[in-house]
Amino acid sequence: TGMFTYDPGFTSTASCESKITYIDGDAGVLLYRGYPIEQIAEQGDFLETCYLLLYGELPTFQQHQEFVKSVTYHTMIHEQMNRFYAGFRRDAHPMAIMTGCVGALSAFYHDSTDISDPHQRMIASIRMIAKMPTIAAWAFKYSIGQPFVYPRNDLDFSANFLRMCFSVPCEEYKVNPVLARAMDRIFILHADHEQNASTSTVRLAGSSGANPFACIAAGIACLWGPAHGGANEAALNMLEQIGSADRIPEFIDRAKDKNDPFRLMGFGHRVYKNYDPRARIMQKTCHEVLAELGIKDDPLLEVAMELEKLALHDEYFVEKKLYPNIDFYSGITLRALGFPTTMFTVLFALARTVGWIAQWKEMVEDPSQKIGRPRQLYTGAKRRDYLPSAQRG
Ligand code: CMC
Repeated sequence: TGMFTYDPGFTSTASCESKITYIDGDAGVLLYRGYPIEQIAEQGDFLETCYLLLYGELPTFQQHQEFVKSVTYHTMIHEQMNRFYAGFRRDAHPMAIMTGCVGALSAFYHDSTDISDPHQRMIASIRMIAKMPTIAAWAFKYSIGQPFVYPRNDLDFSANFLRMCFSVPCEEYKVNPVLARAMDRIFILHADHEQNASTSTVRLAGSSGANPFACIAAGIACLWGPAHGGANEAALNMLEQIGSADRIPEFIDRAKDKNDPFRLMGFGHRVYKNYDPRARIMQKTCHEVLAELGIKDDPLLEVAMELEKLALHDEYFVEKKLYPNIDFYSGITLRALGFPTTMFTVLFALARTVGWIAQWKEMVEDPSQKIGRPRQLYTGAKRRDYLPSAQRG
C-alpha cells in the first residue's frame, strides 16, 4: 500500500540532483555549469565544452591542450569494428548502425567497463567522446557505399569529423574553416540538456551498474524517436512537404486540429515556454552557413522563417507557448553542410554523448544514488484462478 505520486511523462518529478545544466524554461535560459549557452557557443569550442561538462570548470590553456591530446589519442576505433559495419544491410539507417556499434564498444574495451574505478570511468568517457565522430562518420560512409576515412589527429575535432564524412580517396579535401566552426557550434548547442528522455534513459540504465557503452547505446536508442532527437529530421521533411510559403496556413490549421495527428515539428518543448535560446543561435548559424556556401534564397529557409512568423502570431501557438526549438533550423543547416536527413539524429547523438557521459559520471559518483525503479498504478484484472484451456469459455 506504499504511497507514491502518479506522474505520467514525469512532468513534475525531479529524478536526481545535478550540477551540470540549468534551464529556465519560462525565461528561455540555458546554462552549462553556470555559463550561458550564447557565450559558450560564440566564444568556446566543443572540446572545451566537453571538459566543462565533465569536470565542472572551464580548462586552463594547459588543461585544454592536455584534454585535446587525450581525446585525439582515442579517435581510432578497433579495426575489427569494420566487420561489424559490414554486417548491416547497405541501406541501413545510420542510427541503427550507431546504436549497434556503440553497444558493441563494450565488447572491445573491457577495461573501461569497470565502473568502480574512477580512472577507468574517465578513460571510458574520453573514449566515448573521441570515438563517436569516427563511428558516426563511418555509419554515414557505409550508408552511401564509400570507403571509411580514418581520423586525422592534426585537425580540430569538427574539422576532422567533416573530413571523415566528406573526403574521398580520389580527391584532395580541404576543410572549410567557416563550416567547421558551424559544425562545432552545432555540437556545442546539442551537448547537454539536463534530464530529457535520452539522458534519463542513460541514467536509468546506469543506475543498475551497467557499463557506460551500454548506457550510451540505450540513450541513442531513445534519442531516435521523432518527439526527441528525430525531430530535426522530421522538421526538415515537414518543410519540404510544405514546399512553399502559400501552403503554410494549411499546415498551421492541420497542427491546430486535434483530430489530425500532424504537429509542427521543431515547435514546442516540455521545458521551454519561451524561445529556445539554442534555436536563436541555430538560426544565426544557418544564415552563416548558407552565406558561406553562396546559397541565396533557400526556399526551405524562406518557408521556415515565414512559418515561424505566422505561428508566433497565431493564437493557438501563443496561448500554448509553443516556440521554435533547436530542431527547427538545424535541419536546413545540416542539409546545407551536405548531410542527408538520415544523419541528423546521428549528429545529435554524437554531440549529446558528452552530456550523457557527464550525467552518467555524476550519477555513479553520487553516494545517494539508487537503482531507478518507478512505481505504477495497476489497472489490470483482479486476482482470478487459472483454468485448463478446455474449460475456458
Ligand atoms: N504542434 C502543434 N501542437 C503542439 C505542438 C506542435 N509542435 N507541440 C505541442 N502542441 C500542443 C499539444 O497538442 C498540446 O495541446 P493540448 O493541451 O490542447 O492537448 C499542448 O500543445 C501541449 O503539448 P504536449 O504534447 O502536452 O507537451 P509535451 O511537453 O508533452 O511535448 C514536445 C513536448 C516537444 C514533444 C511537443 O511539443 C512536440 O511534439 N513537438 C514537436 C516535436 C519536436 O519538435 N520535438 C523536439 C523537441 S526539442 C529537441 C529534443 O528534445 O530532442
